[in-house]
Amino acid sequence: LREHEEFTKVKNIATIELGRYEIETWYFSPFPPEYNDCLKLFFCEFCLNFMKRKEQLQRHMRKCDLKHPPGDEIYRSGTLSMFEVDGKKNKVYGQNLCYLAKLFLDHKTLYYDVDLFLFYVLCECDDRGCHMVGYFSKEKHSEESYNLACILTLPPYQRKGYGKFLIAFSYELSKKEGKVGTPERPLSDLGMLSYRGYWTRVLLDILKKHKSNISIKELSDMTAIKADDILSTLQSLDLIQYRKGQHAICADPKVLDRHLKAAGRGGLEVDVSKLIWTPYK
Ligand code: ACO
Ligand code: ZN
Repeated sequence: LREHEEFTKVKNIATIELGRYEIETWYFSPFPPEYNDCLKLFFCEFCLNFMKRKEQLQRHMRKCDLKHPPGDEIYRSGTLSMFEVDGKKNKVYGQNLCYLAKLFLDHKTLYYDVDLFLFYVLCECDDRGCHMVGYFSKEKHSEESYNLACILTLPPYQRKGYGKFLIAFSYELSKKEGKVGTPERPLSDLGMLSYRGYWTRVLLDILKKHKSNISIKELSDMTAIKADDILSTLQSLDLIQYRKGQHAICADPKVLDRHLKAAGRGGLEVDVSKLIWTPYK
């Protein structure tokens, strides 16, 4: 872990080229000093190596033999694939991904110790290869029951439901581990909006089906969402009453319907039958 010194620095790289996109960056990212004089960086969309000049990238693309992220494909449904990349086995890739991600993440510390993380990279695949859409990182072992450290949807792909897909995926992994999970704090505004949206929809769907009383503990067991996050979500929906020193869910069907209508689109679904994965040991 490094201190928060980079937060005060001004943005250096203004745009990046990645696959068929040219993307404007949002924040400072601590690229090695030899890149300090660059306004634009050229990324190989597969191995995420970055270069100062277009000609370098073109030369690289002729010899780079990757057509997807390194690591194991653990999910495929239609044209969507998820790859699990171990930061220890693919250190350079992990570091490149962190440099890239920091361009869009404000208050996150950059992890130099990528060994301790797994990276879950979401791709849209076609005959030219698997094109990165976004990713999330996850500590191999988390004391605080974090099931996600950083999440990013690349700007050209934002607002299409990929963020909620990545969030749903992180909870499916937690379910397979038999653990509850929560995202590392702090959350960005966009992160909070996406999580709130996900939690709201998942919890309302269950409450709608379960006419009988259900406890926060039971909701947590079913969803792998940490009890605190369930409580704060239901409180924000005004579905919690405090009775006899206990929190109780009061789910009036009419109120549920009203919230469900307001909850917006569900996002892209994770088809669990297409996830082939065993927890990290
Ligand atoms: N304006 C308003 N609401 C938004 C916006 C926006 N620009 N973007 C997302 N939302 C909300 C909406 O409620 C949306 O649901 P809806 O489209 O059904 O209304 C919901 O968030 C999720 O939308 P998705 O399309 O599923 O999410 P997206 O693919 O855009 O990814 C993400 C969300 C990952 C947070 C993306 O905005 C991003 O990468 N931001 C930059 C990096 C970042 O802030 N990451 C989170 C940091 S916190 C952490 O890493 C633990
Ligand atoms: Zn490459």
